[in-house]
Amino acid sequence: MKFFVDTADTAEIADLAATGLLDGVTTNPSLIARAGRDFLEVTREICALVDGPVSAEVVALDHAGMLREAEVLRKLAPNVCIKVPLTVDGLKTCKALTGEGTMVNVTLCFSANQALLAAKAGASFISPFVGRHDDNGFDGMELIRDIRLIYDNYAFATEILVASVRHGVHVLEAARIGADVMTAPPAVIRGLFRHVLTDKGIEGFLADWAKTGQSI
Ligand code: G3P
Repeated sequence: MKFFVDTADTAEIADLAATGLLDGVTTNPSLIARAGRDFLEVTREICALVDGPVSAEVVALDHAGMLREAEVLRKLAPNVCIKVPLTVDGLKTCKALTGEGTMVNVTLCFSANQALLAAKAGASFISPFVGRHDDNGFDGMELIRDIRLIYDNYAFATEILVASVRHGVHVLEAARIGADVMTAPPAVIRGLFRHVLTDKGIEGFLADWAKTGQSI
């Protein structure tokens, strides 16, 4: 499963990229607002920090406006992935852009039927929001299971990008189901490295090593 980080904080992205485990980045207008930086400038900078796809979201709601914004965004770097909302105009834009070879991430997916439409529109990635689904009394991971089943039934190439990930259990379940990608905030990714028994084990080994009086 590929790991994307869901942030526009370049310091966090650079730090995680240094682990060699980061496969891409996702941003959205809220994350850009949180970063407090110029959208085009920060997106260009993020694209230089990772080799993989960097999702940059359009804000126009109509097809012509989305195409115009995508034109600006895709000039930033070859690894820009245009993010469009799951609407009629968003999917029209997806079809047009992927037809020209541009990567597209269809976002704000909350049903398996929406994911089916995105795959038919040639989406490179579909982003079902599991955390927001859970928040509203639905089962986010059940949605991922349904999409996996449908995409496998028809051998769709669209990658399932599990978004709105809130904790390690979402990551574990996504991997069990066979999702292609998950995107999570930096803190959630950092949390995956940690285990109390790992810390305790290191502490014990170092205490015993000190008793030997040796060095390597
Ligand atoms: O980038 C899309 C998605 O991951 C947003 O997550 O936590 O705002 O629901 P969240």
